[in-house]
Amino acid sequence: MKTIIRRVEDIETGHDAIELAGQYLREGRLVAFPTETVYGLGANALDVDAITEIFHAKGRPMDNPLIVHIASVDELDKLVLHVPYAARILIDKYWPGPLTLVLPRSSIIPDEVTAGLGTVAIRMPSDPVAHALIKESKVPIAAPSANSSGKPSPTSAEHVIEDLYGKIPLILDGGECRVGLESTVLDMSGKSPVILRPGGITREMIERAIGEIGVDERVLKPPHAGDNFRSPGMKYTHYAPKAPVFIVKGHMEDVPSKIVDISKEHIKSGKKVAVLATEETKDRYEDEKLIVFVMGSRACPTTIASNLFAMLRQCDEEDVDLIVAESIDTSHEGLAIMNRMLRAAAFHVIDA
Ligand code: TXA
Ligand code: MG
Repeated sequence: MKTIIRRVEDIETGHDAIELAGQYLREGRLVAFPTETVYGLGANALDVDAITEIFHAKGRPMDNPLIVHIASVDELDKLVLHVPYAARILIDKYWPGPLTLVLPRSSIIPDEVTAGLGTVAIRMPSDPVAHALIKESKVPIAAPSANSSGKPSPTSAEHVIEDLYGKIPLILDGGECRVGLESTVLDMSGKSPVILRPGGITREMIERAIGEIGVDERVLKPPHAGDNFRSPGMKYTHYAPKAPVFIVKGHMEDVPSKIVDISKEHIKSGKKVAVLATEETKDRYEDEKLIVFVMGSRACPTTIASNLFAMLRQCDEEDVDLIVAESIDTSHEGLAIMNRMLRAAAFHVIDA
């Protein structure tokens, strides 16, 4: 398939490209587009054939449901059965933005979107290009992250091109994504809200607005057989670069020495080792034959979040044999970072 790539600097100069993309979506074709979190692979959420195409292009298992993206709160009422009061508060405060709400679905949503669940996940992106595109298309847009299933989510158009060039008709290139990790998925369909996937809107931010909420125990733990998944996405391999990833956790003082020890072994046997380090620790690797990626400062987890996926992909480009990552604190955005890192590492964690 021929893939058209159109650069969209902003919604004024990119108007023609957005108009074309809107038309593609209405016609049932796929469009990759930037959002504030990661690039999405969009299709008309009410068109079963278009939805099926998404699963093919990504190689995504059909039992992993999609998030439906809207441009105005008015669109919500026809997609869901009801909106609890606490959800209204969160919508007022955090939409548009990286917060996805899981609500009881209405009958207009095809089963292919929700994988047959009684709920649907909905979000309103804040990125101006995403917003303009959804508005222009005049339909709700189902969009998973625009990567091949299992790979790190794309935070730039180059990442989308790596994974999906030749498989989809149109990519809008809006530069790098600001947040860099996918939206928070909050299940509001039960008695009390539960975070199924942590993201840009943190647990602390949600609790400030509506009081205490739950966090699914699988957020920082591996799935085990027989789990009844509230979010089917949890059970699949995710965010995996080509090389194996290890996470080293412990005191910030001890972690770098442990990482150097582990790496030396591998370097001795001719392996290429990359370290995902932080501003606070990077100097500790100076004299070693390591490829060092500085994710950001521990004092600013938002920066680490925005760099993580791109750095995992850079490790692939450098063709490294092993990636060793420093563990970081799980408060605020740290919860989302560790959720992704642990999956990238298939839960291989070493104590320093
Ligand atoms: O930031 C984001 O959320 C990005 C951008 C493109 O908006 N999208 C994204 O989509 O990350 P995806 O498909 O890669 O992840 C959607 C997650 C999956 O873990 C899926 O299992 C979960 O949301 N999900 C979707 N519908 C659900 C539902 N009805 N109940 C529970 N979990 C659901
Ligand atoms: Mg994804």
